[in-house]
Formats: sequence, C-alpha cells, structure tokens
Amino acid sequence: MPPPVYELLPSAEEDKTSEHSTRRTHNNRVKKVLFHVLAVAAVMFVVFQGLRSFVRSSSKFLHAPPCHGRNLSSLPSHFTLPSGAQIPSVALGVWKASPGEVGPAVETALKSGYRHIDGAWIYGNEAEVGAAIKKSGIPRDELWLTSKLWNTFHAPEDIEPALDESLAHLDTEYLDLYLVHWPIAFKRGTSNELDVELTANPYPTWAKLEELVDKGKIRNIGISNFNIARIKNLTANPLKHKPAVNQVELNYWNPQPELLQWSKENGLLLEAYSPLGSSDQVKETLRVPEVLAIAKELVITPAQVLISWHVQRGTIVLPKSVTPSRVVENLKVVALPDDLFNKLEEAATSHKPKRILNPSTGWKLDFDVFDENLPF
Ligand code: A2P
Repeated sequence: MPPPVYELLPSAEEDKTSEHSTRRTHNNRVKKVLFHVLAVAAVMFVVFQGLRSFVRSSSKFLHAPPCHGRNLSSLPSHFTLPSGAQIPSVALGVWKASPGEVGPAVETALKSGYRHIDGAWIYGNEAEVGAAIKKSGIPRDELWLTSKLWNTFHAPEDIEPALDESLAHLDTEYLDLYLVHWPIAFKRGTSNELDVELTANPYPTWAKLEELVDKGKIRNIGISNFNIARIKNLTANPLKHKPAVNQVELNYWNPQPELLQWSKENGLLLEAYSPLGSSDQVKETLRVPEVLAIAKELVITPAQVLISWHVQRGTIVLPKSVTPSRVVENLKVVALPDDLFNKLEEAATSHKPKRILNPSTGWKLDFDVFDENLPF
C-alpha cells in the first residue's frame, strides 16, 4: 500500500533543516568557485610574470635594459642645427647599398623607426630610395633626407639642375640637408679633371647653395670631407648660412679626436660615415677586444657599442646595412657608462690612425685631399 501523500511532504521542522542545508551547500559551492578563480588567477599571474621576464631577457640586445646593476640611460635622439632644425642622431647610410638591396633596406629602416636617410647623387640609388620612402607612406615632414652635390657640379649654373635631379629621384620638393660632397671641384663635364679655381675658392658654389636655401629647395647646407684648413678656407667668406654639419669618416680606426674637438669649439656638428669601418674593416672593428668586453658587460652587440659611442661623442652616426636584422639592431643606442665610454675612446685614439677612404689617387690628384697644407 503506498504511503499516505502527506508522508512524502516535509514537515515544517524538516523544511527549515533542508533550507539550511541547501544554503550551506550553496555557500560551499561559492567558496569552491572563488577558490578556483583565485587559484587560476594566481597561476596566470605567475605564468605572465615568467613570460614577461623571458621576453625582456630575449630582447636585451634591442632594448639594452639595466644589467649587472648598471643603469643604461638613453642618448639624444636628435641634435640641433644652427637653423634650429632637429636632425635625428642615427641615420641609415646607403652608400654601397646595391640596386635591389637599397629599397628593401630603406623600407625595413622606416618600419623599424628610422626617420633619417643619408644618401648622395653619386651613390646612384636615389630613385630606389625615393620609391621605398613613398611606399612607406610616412609623411614627408616626419623624415630627414640628406643628399650631396657631386664634384662635377660645383659650377653655380650646374648646382640647381643637379639638386633637381636628386629631388626628382627622391620624389620630394625639398631636402633637409644638402652637402658639398668633397672639397674638390671637377671641371664641368669631366669625371676627375680638377677645377683648380673652384676648388681653391668654394665661395661661388656655397653662395649658390645659400640661394637655394632661400628658395626653399634645401633646408640646411653643409660640407663633407673638409678638414680644418678647407673649412677655414670656406668660412673666411661672408657666409649667409654657415655649414650646418661636416660629414667625415669617423670610426675606431680613424676617430679624428682633434677635428671633433675643433668642431665642437666652433659649433660645427660632425656626421660619422663608415662608423663601423665600412665593408673593408667592419669585421676587425667588431672584434676589437675593448668593444667585445663592453658588449659583454652591457649585454648589447659590438655594433651597438660602436654606434652608441659615436652618438655619445656628439656626432650623428650613419651606419650602412642592407641586412634587416642589422638595420633594426643599429638603431638601438644607449649611453655607455662613463668608465666604459672612456675606455673605448682611449683605445680608439691611442693607436696610429688609419683612414679607410682616400680617393686622391683614384682621382689622379697630385696632392692628398686630406692634407692640411694644400697650396690653395
Ligand atoms: P651589410 O650591409 O651586408 O649588413 P659602415 O656602416 O661602417 O659603412 O659599415 C657597413 C658594413 O658593416 C657593411 O658591410 C654592413 O653589412 C656591415 N654591418 C652593418 N651593421 C652591422 C651589424 N650590426 N653587425 C655586423 N655588420 C654590420
């Protein structure tokens, strides 16, 4: 016989007990869920911290964080020119960057944060550089473009057409900086016949460049490969715009401390070409014991040590590379602690200097273009 229906229903007392036990069960469940949530959060926190320190340690080469207790501060990202313009302290140099290589190198550079490209008419690659810049979509006013007037075009009437060709190739209305490539003028239409008059007196060339500044086609003008005697020979004239920079060979083998000192005293910024020793010497430069020791201590690469050293010396630096990883690597500069900077400066300036580039013989000059005592 089935039990009476009322037996199946809880009594009032039973009802309260079961309500309590349901609440207890519910509370226990909430506690359990909370516990699990906290446990998962704790595990995620530990995993996140681990990942963060892994990412940090694996990108040490690029960001050079404090290491071995040494805090590495940053170096100036720009220097100021007499015009007030701010020039980025590290550029991609494109001398010796071959066709087919230079465009992708410029693209990589611009993607990785470079805003300064150092080129020249004579490098023969300005059209490919211009196309890569256009492809980047970076607004023109965020870029710094330098080109150089070749020796054949020093005659005042040849300067604007030469500049216009560079502007057309680079697909731009103006240059941020235009340099007289060498303190040597060739006769019009020749590839290496010395024009003694224009070499001895660079003022007509300079006056035309000043006119082009005033016309808006160039924002700043400067010189390249000028020694102190050649600079004085130019600046003895009544210049309207003084040279903004002097681009010269500067590297571990040819650090030119006297020129650097003189330039600082005279308010002339130097730009370092072949800062790693160019393709001829780069391997040796990156193996210099002092460079290796600093790289090891700071956990940065030898190239980063040298590029940082140049900026820390107070010069613009123009490392050339067409290798994507090196292009990225070369932009990461850090201030070397004073003792390490001094050690490298001392090592670089205490051996016999050796210049890598000297075209005097190739141009069949009967003098050395770097001689301080030229007859003119
Ligand atoms: P590549 O262009 O094949 O990458 P500099 O700047 O003194 O003119 O030196 C350019 C030379 O140094 C090129 O041969 C270039 O090779 C090489 N180079 C540039 N950056 C680095 C780097 N970070 N590590 C090693 N070699 C480099």
